[in-house]
Amino acid sequence: MAARKRASASTETSNEKSLSTAEKTNHKPQESTDPPIAPPKSAFIFKLALLLLAPYFYLLFYHYKIQDDLKRSILINAILSLAGFFLTVKMIPVASRYVLRRNLFGYDINKKGTPQGTVKVPESLGIVVGIVFLVLAILFQYFNFTADSNWLVEYNAALACICFMTLLGFVDDVLDLPWRVKLLLPSIAALPLLMAYAGHTTILIPKPLVPYVGHDILDLGWLYKLYMGLLVVFCTNSINIHAGINGLEVGQTVVIASAIIIHNVMQIGASVDPEYQQAHAFSVYLTQPLLATSMALLSYNWYPSSVFVGDTYTYFAGMTMAVVGILGHFSETLLIFFLPQVINFLLSLPQLSGYVYCPRHRLPRFDPQTGLLTGTNDGTVVNVYLRIFGRKSEKSLCIHLLLVQAIGCCFCFLLRYLLAGWYK
Ligand code: UD1
Ligand code: MG
Repeated sequence: MAARKRASASTETSNEKSLSTAEKTNHKPQESTDPPIAPPKSAFIFKLALLLLAPYFYLLFYHYKIQDDLKRSILINAILSLAGFFLTVKMIPVASRYVLRRNLFGYDINKKGTPQGTVKVPESLGIVVGIVFLVLAILFQYFNFTADSNWLVEYNAALACICFMTLLGFVDDVLDLPWRVKLLLPSIAALPLLMAYAGHTTILIPKPLVPYVGHDILDLGWLYKLYMGLLVVFCTNSINIHAGINGLEVGQTVVIASAIIIHNVMQIGASVDPEYQQAHAFSVYLTQPLLATSMALLSYNWYPSSVFVGDTYTYFAGMTMAVVGILGHFSETLLIFFLPQVINFLLSLPQLSGYVYCPRHRLPRFDPQTGLLTGTNDGTVVNVYLRIFGRKSEKSLCIHLLLVQAIGCCFCFLLRYLLAGWYK
């Protein structure tokens, strides 16, 4: 995080810290003097939800003939998710007051030099999303899981990972851990799933490669668990480092999560194998609440951000998408949805490995006169995009990057369609 660190770097630190100590000893939390955060950008979220969810509901209710009990479970989950959306919208302003009171805030770096750059933006609001998500996911078991305890084991292992990751993300936000420790946190949080996983450890070999490998199915054994661990580390960190622009952390999650549920419903609709359908339904049950609660957060985090999401959110979101990819058995597809993040990760490697100097923030340069961002030499998609396509405002850059993400997902659907015969 940077909030506490930035706070300690500022001249206000000693006053803020002593205020916190006074609060602790008096056991009387004082009312914050900070103004309330701006209201949610509801109209924008409504239009975005319509755009992203229309194809999903069309496929679910009209295009495919999906069994009634499966459709019922998905619908119950959708209703719970909608309730989670409103609860998150309601809770974020409340939590913002509390985090500001404990000096958990950041300054908006891409507004430095303007009055907006001096505002304390509450940090780590991903904690609200994480908690609401977990409550929904736990309650949903009551409506769906009855006799099939095999699913319950994996479902609860997935929830344990997500909960553990949210906790470690919050620890990171509060303690501001060094970069190399941050990289390792997800592998610790993945342990519940790695230990409980009893599913298959095989991968399908694409048809053209079968003569070279000698089998159409390859059992990776324990290597498969290593692959799962690496996938978790990649998904969590790749969301966290494709960041720093208002709306980008949550925006990319919203786009990828929408692509995931569309993919799931297409797979459920096209298959007659109940086990395969259940694997994709499992993914829907976790991705719908992720999408709903993330949309609520986006309504505050969209430009100009009135809250920051923190590493709590980026790790939580990355972990949730990684576990649904693993337990839904579509991790290869998930990696194609993550194409911009893969490119960002490759561009970041020289700095992450320490070969090239890595500053605390690898963000573009903001010009307060024009309000435009210019790409720097730091290796990120954000900077490279600005260097190729020219200077942009923060909002327009975020929209461009999210469109690139959406085009990447469409490309993935096309690729899967074209390569369908390879896996038969
Ligand atoms: C990662 C990136 C870092 C990037 C940061 C932004 C790497 C290795 N690390 O670090 O380059 O600068 O994310 O999130 O690639 N902030 C804004 N505007 C935003 C979002 C965040 O100014 O829209 C700033 C705020 O000061 C906020 C801080 O970034 O407090 C949060 O940074 P943090 O998430 O702690 O950074 P890292 O995840 O360590
Ligand atoms: Mg971060």
